[in-house]
Amino acid sequence: MAFGDFLTKRFGRQYLNTRFLDVGTGSGVHLLLLRKLGIQDVTATDISAEAVQVAQLNEFQSLGGQRICFLQCDLFTGIEAGQEFDVILFNPPGWQTPSATFLEALKTSDGTQGLAIEAMFYGERTLRRFFEQVPNYLKPGGKVIIGLNSLVGIDAVLKEMCEVQDGRYQCDWSLSERHEFPLALYTEQWRALQPLIRQEITQWVNNGLAYCRFTEEGEVMWSYEIIELAFTPRST
Ligand SMILES: C[S@@+](CC[C@H](N)C(=O)[O-])C[C@H]1O[C@@H](n2cnc3c(N)ncnc32)[C@H](O)[C@@H]1O
Repeated sequence: MAFGDFLTKRFGRQYLNTRFLDVGTGSGVHLLLLRKLGIQDVTATDISAEAVQVAQLNEFQSLGGQRICFLQCDLFTGIEAGQEFDVILFNPPGWQTPSATFLEALKTSDGTQGLAIEAMFYGERTLRRFFEQVPNYLKPGGKVIIGLNSLVGIDAVLKEMCEVQDGRYQCDWSLSERHEFPLALYTEQWRALQPLIRQEITQWVNNGLAYCRFTEEGEVMWSYEIIELAFTPRST
């Protein structure tokens, strides 16, 4: 909701003829919103076949037909070579790579039913690959908007992004919005894993790999940061 709210404020009428790409579109909610605002040229990718199916169904129900190009692929792999966009959106998996102990515990539970582990974890790995590739799909002067969860380790992710691009591009980023939310676990199976997830988060925070606030009642309050990025080629 915060990302959608930001998009409606950020992209007004002057963006109607702008090319948008939404990486990891999930339910497609943000592109449906942009399409409803009148933006014509919108493309989406998601690695999950189920997400793409749901997004296409949502598109049909909201827009009454096929108006968005949905591609099931890993990041940009389904995008034709030479295709460039004015704005690329990514609301990546919000949590970082889980520990071996957590993965072992998952094996003995049905905790991932209804929501794949890749939809929530491995955020920093996916972001590393995203940052390596994203400048190739941006028009000159194009923008990238990402929504980062503080449980992914935002400082480390941005530092690594600059290192990945060092030599090729100058990376400029600015924080547009920050929100704080309580941790929500979206499926019954994930809720059953709550103590394990909390333990995992506590370890990340204690090791300086992520940050969040614990309330007196023990609730996890994480930050959501909307960041705008630009990549300027360095002259050789
Ligand atoms: C946090 S959800 C965001 C969904 C939606 N964009 C939103 O904001 O509500 C992350 C999405 O990224 C997708 N995803 C994860 N890894 C991906 C990858 N390598 N390539 C494309 N999509 C990926 C997941 O399937 C999931 O739908």
